[in-house]
Formats: sequence, C-alpha cells, structure tokens
Amino acid sequence: MGLDFELADGQTPLTEEEKDGLLISSITTHGELDEFEQLNIEKAIQWSLSRKFKKDEILTEAFIKLVHKKMYAEVWAWAGEFRRTNKNIGVDMHQVPIQLRLLLDDCEYWIEKGIYPPDEIAVRFKHRIVSIHCFSNGNGRHSRMMGDLIIEKIFERPVFTWGATISLKQDGGARREYLAAVKSADKNDFKPLMEFARK
Ligand SMILES: Nc1ncnc2c1ncn2[C@@H]1O[C@H](COP(=O)(O)OP(=O)(O)O)[C@@H](O)[C@H]1O
Ligand SMILES: [Mg+2]
Repeated sequence: MGLDFELADGQTPLTEEEKDGLLISSITTHGELDEFEQLNIEKAIQWSLSRKFKKDEILTEAFIKLVHKKMYAEVWAWAGEFRRTNKNIGVDMHQVPIQLRLLLDDCEYWIEKGIYPPDEIAVRFKHRIVSIHCFSNGNGRHSRMMGDLIIEKIFERPVFTWGATISLKQDGGARREYLAAVKSADKNDFKPLMEFARK
C-alpha cells in the first residue's frame, strides 16, 4: 500500500484524545504509532495473501470490520468497531452502517452488471468508504487495503501501487497529484485517481 499522506511530523506527541484505546503505553509520538501500526498492517497483508475470499464474503459489513481488526487489533482496543463519535470527516456516526450497506449493495451491482471496469470499481469503492469514515482512525489505509482486496480477490488482477513510484521521489509532487485526483473523484471523475492508483 502506498504512502500515507496524512503523516505529520513523526515527533509530534499524541494528544490524550488520540491515545484513546491505545494498547501500547510506550507509544507517545505519531512516528512511534505509525511504526507499530505498520507492523500490524504487514501481518494483515500476510493474512490476506494466504487466503482466498469470494465476492459475497468481501462485500459484507463483517468483512469490512474484520479487515480493520486484522490491520490494527494489536494497537487499538477499538479496531474493527465502527466509530462512536462524530468527526469533521465522514458521515454522522449513526449513518455509518446505513451508508456502508448502500455502498456494498452498489458495489455488488457494479460487479454483477459490469457497470465499470474492475479498476474503476475498486477505486470508486475506496473513495466512497473513506468518505463514510467507518472507524475512528486508520480509514485511509483500510480503504486502500479494501481496494486491493477487491481487485485481487474478486477480479484476480494485481494490487494497486497507490502512487508509490512517484512518492519515492519525495518532491511533494505525489501529494499534489493525489489531492487533485481526490478532488476530481469528489466531482465524480475517477480517471485521475485510477491513474494515480497504478503509478
Ligand atoms: N474531506 C475528506 N473527505 C473524504 N475523505 C477524506 C477527507 N479528508 C481526508 N480524507 C481521507 O481520510 C484519510 C485519513 O483518515 P484516517 O482515519 O486518519 O486514516 P489513516 O489513519 O489511515 O490516515 C485520508 O487518507 C483521506 O483519504
Ligand atoms: Mg489517521
């Protein structure tokens, strides 16, 4: 999975609110948190690589939660549980299960009827699930892993790079391109985000 563009200065201390449900008390900065989360996420990727999943299993609320749990359960007590607070991103917390249900049904329909090409289905799903913002944290990385699972397990195509090749240049160009692509996707043009996902 590509770079996490939300990475702040690694030395920034976590606030008391950000520490809510943190299972490892030695973690005090965002940099340390990122490292532990990354270790957990690598195990989740190993778990997913060793298994076959069918469409009807992937496109369920239980599976969406399971993936988040596999990614973060060693770090967060609330891993795999929908958020219980409102944020400035995402739908009202009470709308999470409803909006997710709509997305899962739409995605099923896109696949069954071949409404969009495979990459577009996975990228549309990624963009919509991160906008719902099901969990308190980790939604960006979870959405990319879901996009990868859809493209790999349902369509049997290679996983996305999510801009990894441009990110390596470290010139800020990837971030700029990513933000522009997300803006286009917000306006229902998914082409730039699909291109970014394969760079
Ligand atoms: N206004 C927005 N609308 C939809 N999604 C957004 C918005 N702002 C940020 N995001 C998404 O939310 C993610 C950050 O959410 P977060 O739960 O902190 O995920 P992570 O911890 O994996 O970075 C970003 O990666 C971005 O994709
Ligand atoms: Mg975050």
